Amino acid sequence: MKNLHTTFLLMAIISTISAQTTIIPIESEDYALVLQTDEFKRLRNIYFGPKLSMASDYAAIAKQLRYKGTNEDVFNSAYTPSGTWNVSEPALQIAHHDGNGSTELEYTKDKTETLEENISLTTIDLFDPVFKTQVQLFYKVFHKENVFEQWTVIKNGEQGKIELKKYASANLYFRNKEFYLTQYHGSWATEMQPETHKLTAGIKTLDSKLGARANLYAPPTFMLSFDGVATEESGKVMLANLAWSGNYRFDFEKDRYDNLRLIAGANNHAAEYELSENESFETPHLIYVYSENGKGEASRNMHRWARKYRLWNGEGERLTLLNNWEATYFDFDEHKLVELFDGAKKIGVDLFLLDDGWFANKYPRNDDSAGLGDWQENKKKLPNGLGYLVEEATKKGIKFGIWIEPEMVNPKSELYENHKDWVIRQPNRKEYYYRNQLVLDLSNPEVQDHVFGVFDNIFTKNPDIAYVKWDCNSIIYNAHSDYLSKQNKPQTHLYVEYVKGLYNILEKVRAKYPKVPIMLCSGGGGRVDYGALQYFTEFWPSDNTAPLDRIFLHWDYSHFYPAISMCAHVTEWDRAASMKYRTDIASMGKLGFDIDVDDLTADEQKFCQQAVQNYNKFKEVIWRGDLFRLQSPYENEVASFQFVDEAKDKSIVFSYLVTRRYDTGHSFEPIVFKGLDENKKYKIKELNIYPGTTSPVDEFAVYSGAFLMNVGFNPDVSTRRNSVILEITKL
Ligand code: GLA
Repeated sequence: MKNLHTTFLLMAIISTISAQTTIIPIESEDYALVLQTDEFKRLRNIYFGPKLSMASDYAAIAKQLRYKGTNEDVFNSAYTPSGTWNVSEPALQIAHHDGNGSTELEYTKDKTETLEENISLTTIDLFDPVFKTQVQLFYKVFHKENVFEQWTVIKNGEQGKIELKKYASANLYFRNKEFYLTQYHGSWATEMQPETHKLTAGIKTLDSKLGARANLYAPPTFMLSFDGVATEESGKVMLANLAWSGNYRFDFEKDRYDNLRLIAGANNHAAEYELSENESFETPHLIYVYSENGKGEASRNMHRWARKYRLWNGEGERLTLLNNWEATYFDFDEHKLVELFDGAKKIGVDLFLLDDGWFANKYPRNDDSAGLGDWQENKKKLPNGLGYLVEEATKKGIKFGIWIEPEMVNPKSELYENHKDWVIRQPNRKEYYYRNQLVLDLSNPEVQDHVFGVFDNIFTKNPDIAYVKWDCNSIIYNAHSDYLSKQNKPQTHLYVEYVKGLYNILEKVRAKYPKVPIMLCSGGGGRVDYGALQYFTEFWPSDNTAPLDRIFLHWDYSHFYPAISMCAHVTEWDRAASMKYRTDIASMGKLGFDIDVDDLTADEQKFCQQAVQNYNKFKEVIWRGDLFRLQSPYENEVASFQFVDEAKDKSIVFSYLVTRRYDTGHSFEPIVFKGLDENKKYKIKELNIYPGTTSPVDEFAVYSGAFLMNVGFNPDVSTRRNSVILEITKL
């Protein structure tokens, strides 16, 4: 609070210092983004970096920037318009009512208010004096976490319609010489593969045009390092995510001063958006965190922010579970399921999750080619309905959850037969399918009601269902909406309206069902972003559950998302890996199993039981603690992750061998721990010891925090002990 007051005072002083220009510092606890108007009332980005302490400092910045005064050298606009003075990539492009393509934005006013403790909001009004377009820039700051959330609202002030051709969320400017972009790409089962490169002159664009399941090939997520590639402990770095579950576009433009312009928002490709008189458009929100102390600190701050302010029930509880997908695929009936319940009970998880294949009768869902859309229990597989399964699970002392994919439809379904007009498809063209299915037109409110109804009906009939996995397996082909045509709306609204429709549905779901944990799944990790995660408690990072691959996936996702949100299941995907290796790896996320427990040996069962008990004891540290990425799987033969609770009294360290090559994979050196208290004394105990084996770790030895954080501790990882979990407890 004190900080905020100082900020406001500072801003008042600054305004009086510079009579003709306005300076707007937007400050978090450690950093500041500073904007200033020029002599033509254009608002420009003048600073991004550590907060400055003297009131007059911000006012002195502009004088240090000796850019040429001419227009072609203005690269740092806070929201770059097009068609007038600007000749670089715009943030905003408008076709006005009369077809004119020029926009000019002049600063009119700004205000900063405290929304609640730790959160402030700066709103800046810009105005086109000719066409009366109003643009409002919003900067929400989460002070302690150094997280910024930025978006824009554009309002049509003309008498008549205008068309937004480009409508970015944020337009930032960074003054450094070198910039390194870490972007992520992949596909089904190969999500989140990082690639880091130096940005060169010109524009580098990251985008998606897939519509739904929009980040199948690349998520709306990036890491930007300044001057050199940031490490865990050092370097200037920004982690960003566009909170938008649809098409996105990030332009990174290095200008002629070697500075970097960043323009981020929804993708304008085939998505021009019309506004009627007085109508407004709110862009998606860009979320970013900045640190000058490396990517470790940046992601810990992002995690704290996400748990406290973003993720649904981010600071709440989660359920461990047994899923039947890989154990049965579509081949099951109620007897088989009830048998599997016993497995869940045996290993001690909280819930049984019934996956795909439980529904549809005219076109039974026995594989992925039919039935999607027909959400009635399949009478052959489940003659006694879901209610019976919920009852049986309850009798056995476990909860019951269910898989749905309500946004999509197989052409072989009653839903498609009855409501072709609800499907995104071109009326006069061949249909193209992704996983044999099509996407429903969520721009249509009737379809939104239908999708909400799928969820609502299941819960009205079975109020004791305790968990939902919400899937989304197809991209959008043939983008065309029957509904938009009937409404005389442009087809180019579809990509935006799809996402807005999805969020409308999820708003309604959450208003009625605030307590149900819902997993965000999209054929693996095809839709992971902080827009969707406002409604979901957790997400499915990938269908790839091979433990070795999961270490890498977890490493990369963990830069942006907290462990409590990342579902991690033990499966049979890689049978060559031991049950211990698989379980230990899944234990650093939100633990689940996707196996037939009866197929396990007695020792494996005993081990899983013990691992679930251990997880229940240390899950608080994983879910709510700080993450320190100790050793990268990309650079070491032993990867290591450490979680530390807030009080620095308890910590869990996971170390895994990431090579299978002979005699290379030993932890010859100790692993240096982080985040503990130098002055506290700790003891170390190994957890998840496989039946019949013993641990070399002396659980009675005592170490100072200083020792563990300077010398370190050797978990003794080797080809015989390829995963080790250590519990560090304050004496
Ligand atoms: C997607 C999900 C899987 C599973 C299947 C069911 O691929 O990612 O986990 O639920 O659908 O069809």
